[in-house]
Amino acid sequence: MPRRISDDLIARICDENDIIDYVSQYVQLKKTGRDYSGLCPFHHEKTPSFHVSQEKQLFHCFGCGASGNLVQFVMRTENLDFVDSLKFLADRAGIIIPEDDVSLNDENHAKKKKLLAMNKHAARFFYNCLKDSSIGEKGRQYFIKRKISWKTVTVYGLGFAPDSRDMLIKHLTSKDFTVDEIVEGGLAVRREGRVYDKFRNRVMFPIIDVRGNVIGFGGRIMDDKKEVNGYKIPKYLNSPETLVFDKGKNLFSLNLAKNAKESDVILCEGYMDVISVYQAGIKNIVATLGTAITENQAKLMMRYAGEILICYDSDEAGTKAALRAIDIISSVGGRSRVIRLKNAKDPDEYINKNGVEKFKEAVKNAMPSTEFKISLIKKQYDTTTADGKILFVDEAAKILAGIKDAVEVDAYITKIADDTGISRDAVLGKYREKTSKNTYRRIPLKTEYQKKNERKEREIVREEKITPGLIAAEKRLLALISQSKKLYRIAEKCIKADDFSTPTYRKLAKLIYESYSHDNTPEPAIILNSFSGDELAEASEVFYNLEVYNGDEATVKELLYTITLEKLDIRINSETDAVSLAELFKEREKVLEEKNMWEE
Ligand code: CTP
Ligand code: MN
Repeated sequence: MPRRISDDLIARICDENDIIDYVSQYVQLKKTGRDYSGLCPFHHEKTPSFHVSQEKQLFHCFGCGASGNLVQFVMRTENLDFVDSLKFLADRAGIIIPEDDVSLNDENHAKKKKLLAMNKHAARFFYNCLKDSSIGEKGRQYFIKRKISWKTVTVYGLGFAPDSRDMLIKHLTSKDFTVDEIVEGGLAVRREGRVYDKFRNRVMFPIIDVRGNVIGFGGRIMDDKKEVNGYKIPKYLNSPETLVFDKGKNLFSLNLAKNAKESDVILCEGYMDVISVYQAGIKNIVATLGTAITENQAKLMMRYAGEILICYDSDEAGTKAALRAIDIISSVGGRSRVIRLKNAKDPDEYINKNGVEKFKEAVKNAMPSTEFKISLIKKQYDTTTADGKILFVDEAAKILAGIKDAVEVDAYITKIADDTGISRDAVLGKYREKTSKNTYRRIPLKTEYQKKNERKEREIVREEKITPGLIAAEKRLLALISQSKKLYRIAEKCIKADDFSTPTYRKLAKLIYESYSHDNTPEPAIILNSFSGDELAEASEVFYNLEVYNGDEATVKELLYTITLEKLDIRINSETDAVSLAELFKEREKVLEEKNMWEE
C-alpha cells in the first residue's frame, strides 16, 4: 500500500508536538542563544554538541551528525518506522487522523481501533482476575510454581481467565462492545447458537505489538492434563487471526526487546521462555506466536537487531525448526547464530536450573549457523568410514554452495578437510561442483537496458568532480533561498535544481523550488521527511546553519558567481585538449569580468 501522508497532516502533527518538550524526556536541554543544547542521545559525549531549535523544530548533533525533525527523532528513539512514528505523535497530541488519509486509514481503521480498545479492556480484566483474592488464586499459584514474580506479572500484564462460561463477555458488553464484536475479536466463540468465553481456566499472556497495542492473547492450562471429560484440550490456546492480529507479523515481547541495549536479539519458541529469561535481566528476547517463523518476522527482528540468536528447544522438533529459521532469516538477508542449551529442554528450564550466568555464557558461545548445519550433518554419517566421509563431504559442500561470503566458504573448506582427513583440494572440488550446477542459471545475461544504465552511472560518477568550495557555496545558497522567496527568484534564474552537485542537494533544491512554485514557503521540518540516513544529515545541515547564513541579494549573486567559477575550474582541471582549454579560459575571463562589473 502506498504510504503517502498529506504534508498538512504531518505539519499538524509536528505543530502539536513541540520538539523541545519531547526531546527533553531524553536529553537535559539548556537554552544556549537561540537554540537549546545538551548531550547527544545518539552517541557518547562529554560536552554537549546536540542542538535543538524550537523555531525550526529540528535537532542536529554537531558531534555525530544525527539530525532531523521530531518524527525522525521518534523514529530513532522509539525504533519505529516513519508512519508508526507519525501515528505515535498523532496519538500523543490527541489528533484524530481524518478518514480520507488513505495511508493511515484503511477502511477497517475504525473497526481495528475498536478491537484494540476491546483487547485492552480484556487484558485489564484478566489481570484483575489474577489479582482477585479468590478468583485468581489458582493462577497466582501457577505463576509461583513457575517462579514468576509479581513484578514480572505486571511487566507483561499477565492475567487469569476464570473458569466461567461468560464472565468476559458480560464484562465487555457492559463496556459497550457487542457480542458480534467480541466473537470477531476472538475473545468469544459461538457454538450451536450460544456464545462462550474463548479463554477459560487459563493463565493469560497478552501479546503486545511494538506500538504497545494488545493485539491478541495466549492462554495456558495450569495442570498438564491434556484431557477434560474425554475432550483433548491444547496446552496453549491463542487468539485466532483477527483484523489486528497477524501471527506471522508480530513477535511476543518485541515491545520490550526493542529497547534493550544489546545489538542482537534472542529468538525462542515459548512465551514462558521469554518471560523467564527477561525476568533474569536479559531483555533482548522474543518468541514467535505458536507458528513457525516467517520472513516478515525475520525482517521485523532485523529492524532492531544486527544478528538473530536462535534459541529453540533442544529436542528434534526444535532442531528442525532452528534449521528452518536459519534459512528463512538468510533468505531475507539476515544473519543468525544458534544457541545450544545442554541438559535442558528449553531456555526457561535452563535458566531455572543453571542460573543466568550460565545462560549468558551459552549466548556468548552461540554457534555460527553454517557450523551448526554442518555439525548436524556430520552426526548423520559415520565419518570414520570412507563411505561416510564421502557422503558427509557431499552434503556439506551443498551447504557451502549456498554461502555468498568467499572467506567464510574458504574457512569451512579447510575445517571440513581437517575434520575428515580428505585433501583440501578434493573438498574444494566438491564445492565447485555444487556451485557450478546452479550459477549458470542464477546469473542471467545483462540486458541492453542494464548495460546502458551502468554506462550512464559510470559517466555520472566520472563527471561528478566536486570541490569543497563548490559544496560550501551551494550549501549556503540553498540555505538562503530556503528562507526567502525574493532570493529564490534570483537564484532560480541562474541555477536549476538539477545543476546542484550532489544528489542530496539536487533533491533538496527540487523540494525547495517545488514549494515556491506552489506558492508555499519551504518548511524545513517537512522537507526533511524526504530524507534518511547520510542524506538526512547532509540536508539538515543546510537548514540547521540558517542563522549563520544571513545574507541578502548581493550574497546570492556572489554565490552564483562562485558556483559558476568553481564549476569552470573543475572542467579546466580535467580538460586535456588544448583548444578546448583555451575556450574554457576565455569563458572564465568573461565571467570574472562580469563579476567585477557587477561588484563596482
Ligand atoms: N504453542 C501453541 N499451542 C500449543 C502448544 C504450544 O501455540 N498447543 C506455542 C506457544 O506459543 C508456546 C510455544 O508454542 O509458548 C512453545 O510450546 P512449548 O514448548 O510446548 O511450551 P513452553 O513455552 O515451553 O511452555 P511451558 O514451559 O509452559 O510448557
Ligand atoms: Mn517450557
